[in-house]
Amino acid sequence: MNKKKILVTGGAGFIGGNFVQYMVNKYEKYDIYNLDLLTYAGDLTKHSEIEKKENYHFIKADIADRTSIMELFRKEKFDFVVHFAAESHVDRSITNPEIFVQTNVMGTQVLLDAAKEVGVTKFVHVSTDEVYGELEFDPTTFFTEETPLQPNSPYSASKASSDLLVRAYYETYKLPINITRCSNNYGPYHFPEKLIPLTISRVVNEEKVPVYGDGANIRDWLHVLDHCSAIDLVLHEGELGEVYNVGGHNERTNLEVVKTIIKTLGKSEDLIEFVKDRLGHDKRYAIDPTKLEKLGWKPTYNFETGIAQTIQWYLDNKEWWKRIISGEYQKYFKKQYSNNR
Ligand code: NAD
Ligand code: TYD
Repeated sequence: MNKKKILVTGGAGFIGGNFVQYMVNKYEKYDIYNLDLLTYAGDLTKHSEIEKKENYHFIKADIADRTSIMELFRKEKFDFVVHFAAESHVDRSITNPEIFVQTNVMGTQVLLDAAKEVGVTKFVHVSTDEVYGELEFDPTTFFTEETPLQPNSPYSASKASSDLLVRAYYETYKLPINITRCSNNYGPYHFPEKLIPLTISRVVNEEKVPVYGDGANIRDWLHVLDHCSAIDLVLHEGELGEVYNVGGHNERTNLEVVKTIIKTLGKSEDLIEFVKDRLGHDKRYAIDPTKLEKLGWKPTYNFETGIAQTIQWYLDNKEWWKRIISGEYQKYFKKQYSNNR
């Protein structure tokens, strides 16, 4: 019997990469195709353990390249698509919004057209809670699937636009879709421009950690493997056309996160440096995951166990992130933070 084919876009990135490994190891009955353009955020060395497996395949392509993507879908006739590929960093979207529209909006539309033409069984669009905008600090309020979309950054606006296209392909063409909206992820292979890996790598090197504004902004943190299990569940059990929020009630201020990492690594809080705030900095994100829990999802990590595992991973895998923070990354860091003080 032919194996079913799952196309995972963005499988060389942080969450897509963890998802590819999770699926290749869990399901021999699927062929997993990792499609990625290998931008600055894409890295294939993380897949050295699975790349020899028969059910893993890699394709280098740009999701916004209509001709190549249509050709590929006609040839491979994928059964499922799980779509992660995106420009994902809010700070980069503030300095250069255009590529976010190109990849996140135009790229998604190309994939939707290709999926529609070959008639996929399901298209899972991986989105973010940031499309809902921001919450006040009142701890009794949460984002539900009914919260109106009010994105504030060019990144979240591009993700919200892609969500609306995915929804429209369900309503108009009956393309079988799900949309997942997850809170902030952390865990192995997180690119060190994002808060948690940036803090771990800088604290290990005893370098200053830039905290935007007063550090009081709140994020709801979810371990990446709990996000992977949520997507696996939605792929197999999600009701067609539905949106599912993903989050585990792990709200922390940025300052709490940074202090936890410093304490775990046994360093001094003098490493904290308060810098100029991010433009349009969303105050708080917090997810109500009731709908997904009713489908049968339960996270395995809380913030304490997840951050301990993650810090240990970064200590055990210094080679991986040290290679990334040399070269190009140095130029990015200088440019991003030089005007920030
Ligand atoms: P990432 O930046 O680590 O990885 C993105 C991947 O997409 C990279 O491998 C990159 O090479 C690839 N890519 C970029 N442009 C491409 C293109 N034009 N064609 C093909 N591949 C391309 O991002 P991530 O943090 O792993 O996020 C993955 C998805 O999850 C994104 O859609 C993001 O919006 C969503 N999400 C992220 C978080 C988070 O906390 N990181 C939370 C919720 C949702
Ligand atoms: P980030 O990891 O960029 O994720 P997002 O913007 O998608 O939530 O940032 C998480 C939080 O940490 C956010 O409130 C901004 C803040 N932050 C800092 O304080 N300093 C930093 O150097 C970075 C990258 C982020």
